[in-house]
Amino acid sequence: MYTTRNDLMSGSKGPKAVVLLDKVSTVYEGERFPAIRDVSLCINAGDFVCVIGPNGSGKTTLLETVNGILRNTSGNVRVFGLDVTESGHSVRTRTGYVIQNFEIDPLSPFLCKNVVMSGRVGKIGLLRFPSERDWAIVDESMRLVGMDSSADRPIGKLSGGEFQKILLARAIAQEPEMFLLDEPFANLDLKSRADVDRLISDLNRKGATTVMVSHDIDSIPFSCSHIIVMNRGRVAAFGPRDELLQNGVISSLMKVRGSAV
Ligand SMILES: Nc1ncnc2c1ncn2[C@@H]1O[C@H](COP(=O)(O)OP(=O)(O)OP(=O)(O)O)[C@@H](O)[C@H]1O
Ligand SMILES: [Mg+2]
Repeated sequence: MYTTRNDLMSGSKGPKAVVLLDKVSTVYEGERFPAIRDVSLCINAGDFVCVIGPNGSGKTTLLETVNGILRNTSGNVRVFGLDVTESGHSVRTRTGYVIQNFEIDPLSPFLCKNVVMSGRVGKIGLLRFPSERDWAIVDESMRLVGMDSSADRPIGKLSGGEFQKILLARAIAQEPEMFLLDEPFANLDLKSRADVDRLISDLNRKGATTVMVSHDIDSIPFSCSHIIVMNRGRVAAFGPRDELLQNGVISSLMKVRGSAV
């Protein structure tokens, strides 16, 4: 298990490091205390990392610091070898982010297929029209999440779970090198959870580095390779999945803090 900064940074010099955080803290505007503090970690290409921790522990803040939506207040964030402070746009173009709890206007006129196509804007370019290939990728992405029959439905009419699947399809259509998935199972029924679990694992097996947030230890996909445990903005533990689960590290953290990690 990696728990110290030196442990975490060892191996970071190899060419495979996709996400590299060195003593990173992020303070929200107007706040005094960092929502994540002193976070150091290294995620390699092809890893499937699950971030777990109780509500408010900094999981979403960590994802948004990685893709540069939030600017870190100290430390260094490098993704794909780029400094996120300087190259946030490039990083986000290469990263498929599925946001948590996105509010949707029920009167939104946009059709599902157009929302999924919006994931390809970075590839197509702003003033260009989608090609046949772009539409084929959009169709396939919607088929993968089981939403192909909803292509022409207005996005505002979808249920929470259906909408979540469209957001995942949008990220898939982007053909990213890395997925950042914030509670992707949150609104899904049991069968949909299993389907999405399989889909995420397949995408990872095909090479996409995956960082998935969950506050539920039971929903960690079988194919997850590493676990990060967040608590009160800090990395409480980080290591290979089996090591953390078998050694009871996570359950001991739960006992100590009495939290529902
Ligand atoms: N926009 C914001 N402004 C100020 N503080 C914020 C903001 N967003 C989050 N926070 C605070 O930052 C801390 C970490 O929040 P974060 O959303 O990262 O937690 P989380 O682990 O994702 O929680 P959850 O499981 O509920 O999604 C919390 O204390 C939260 O109140
Ligand atoms: Mg969150």
